Amino acid sequence: MANRVLAAVLVLVVIGAAVALAQEDGNAVRGAALYAEYCLACHGPQGEARASQEAFAAAIQYDVSFEALVAEGVVDTYMIGWSEANGGPFDEGDLVDLRAYAQTWHTDELPPLPAPEVPEDLPAIGSGDPNLGAALFIANCGGCHGPAGEGRDLAAFPAIDPDADVLTATRRGVVNLLAVNRMPPFAQANGGPLGEENLENIMAYIRTWERPTALEAAAEEAPEGAGMLILLIGIGGVLLVGGAVLTRRPG
Ligand code: HEC
Ligand code: HEC
Repeated sequence: MANRVLAAVLVLVVIGAAVALAQEDGNAVRGAALYAEYCLACHGPQGEARASQEAFAAAIQYDVSFEALVAEGVVDTYMIGWSEANGGPFDEGDLVDLRAYAQTWHTDELPPLPAPEVPEDLPAIGSGDPNLGAALFIANCGGCHGPAGEGRDLAAFPAIDPDADVLTATRRGVVNLLAVNRMPPFAQANGGPLGEENLENIMAYIRTWERPTALEAAAEEAPEGAGMLILLIGIGGVLLVGGAVLTRRPG
């Protein structure tokens, strides 16, 4: 009996150690998915850099400070701090998984970058192909703006207003000195990675978005607000009645 318990404990210890090791090494497959979503747009599929403008020109040298660098970013460059502590989307585990993927670039065992999920059969409104545009948007813009431009609920990752001058902002980028994050210039004419035809396809995808106007959004929110109020009044009522019952209960 004692032997069995000992054996069971040993097995658990071994499993525990294996899990701890796996965590320390990170999960390269998961890292590849995070990389494809957030990093590829500027650094290219294997950190080889992508275009001449400074946002796209940094090749990644894998070294020991990888996690710290990605967590903190580099001040006054397009490389923002990606950790939750710096207003980004990643926790410690995510950073370790990203490093695990970057480490595979020096081996023969590169996990494939997962293909993004793309909406299908989008109707063309005006020029360009929205279906090609959807894949281009998700690969190039989705990391910062979300797969349908809805933003990411983080200060550095704003929603896209489809009624703004999207093409100009995308071609030239936006450097806002007050903002944490900069919008890189994507047009090849400005040193970016995308030709005019690809930009046109991205615009065709953006045209398929339906965003509620400010008024519609307010109307949509109102019932929720009213519901909350009714709930609060309800809770208040229950407390009052409950209180009354309790105080009247004979000792
Ligand atoms: C908007 C473009 C952009 C995005 C997106 C981006 N980076 Fe960077 N990254 C840069 C630039 C530009 C630099 C160079 C900063 C400098 O001048 O030192 C850089 C530098 C780095 C470095 C240091 C390079 C070296 O070896 O010296 C690492 C590592 C890195 N990025 C990893 C990542 C990872 C991982 C992601 C995704 C979570 C990411 N980057 C997303 C633009 C970007
Ligand atoms: C590295 C993150 C990043 C990537 C990648 C990125 N953007 Fe942006 N984008 C931003 C930020 C940050 C702003 C806000 C800049 C500001 O005003 O301070 C912005 C602003 C914009 C704006 C103007 C603001 C508005 O109200 O609509 C448009 C349009 C836009 N982005 C489109 C795109 C498109 C299209 C792509 C892909 C081709 C893209 N972005 C890729 C970060 C990014």
